[in-house]
Amino acid sequence: MQWTILGAGAIGSLFATQLLRIGQSVNLLDTRHAQTPHQQLHPMLLELLDGSVCMCELPCIGYRDLSAIGNLLVTTKVWQVIPALKPLVGRLPETSPIILLHNGMGTAEWLLRHFPHNPLLAGVTSCGALKTDSKHIRHTGFGETWLGALNSSGEQCRELVPYLADALGHTAWSEHIGERQWRKLVINAVINPLTAVWNQPNGALLDRTEEVAALCQELHPLLVKQGFRETPETWCRQVLQVADRTARNFSSMHQDIAYHRKTEIDYITGYLLQQAEKQGIDLPKHRQLYLKVKALESTCTNE
Ligand code: PAF
Repeated sequence: MQWTILGAGAIGSLFATQLLRIGQSVNLLDTRHAQTPHQQLHPMLLELLDGSVCMCELPCIGYRDLSAIGNLLVTTKVWQVIPALKPLVGRLPETSPIILLHNGMGTAEWLLRHFPHNPLLAGVTSCGALKTDSKHIRHTGFGETWLGALNSSGEQCRELVPYLADALGHTAWSEHIGERQWRKLVINAVINPLTAVWNQPNGALLDRTEEVAALCQELHPLLVKQGFRETPETWCRQVLQVADRTARNFSSMHQDIAYHRKTEIDYITGYLLQQAEKQGIDLPKHRQLYLKVKALESTCTNE
């Protein structure tokens, strides 16, 4: 089966190299190029959890190489999703599935409008990976990956699951992918901005649980409107479990700020603020955090 990775960051590179390792055909889509770039092969070195190392070369394609695009796994930063997919609108064969696998929410609506005939899917993963430079990826932790349909033709893509399970370990189909995306969104909306603003690793939340509890408490009315039944205390416990499991890691937002990059705050806290406003719910603590991250981000120079 052919897979195409759009966004060779940590997760995209992990998926690419692990799929290649199980014998799948994988290429990298570079939307900076219309045709296959001159430098056709991208070398990558994957360090596995057992310490062994696997070297591979991934073919690169441009966005006009439409026949080379397979199952399109979108693993870019969330704010890059729409600009990166725009060159494919009206061109991508209608049989090509598009799988959104990024942090944050708010891109699916655009995708459904612009690719109405393609099988559209969303995924949520808790696999851990670290990209130390453009060629080195370290698999840092096993996790769960879930795929689910965003439209009716996406429902026909369950056959993708066994390939991902073979490549990455636990992967399953979800009938409620939107719910899983929301759960991840809540975790990201607490861990990511707090660690970015505090300039601390995820484990710092364990020493400041009252701030975590206050953010979960404030989100609770919105989560109830979304149909979730958990108490604020349960949400808080779930956030703290992730912070504990990843205590030594720096969140992706912390790293974005540390490396002067644009963050995903608009699609995490920003998305929650928009949804809350639609419901007439005020989220002053989350808004304050949003503004603090935006202030830090305004000093960013790189994208
Ligand atoms: O964005 C991240 O860094 C991760 O999704 C999470 C769960 C916060 C762990 O670091």
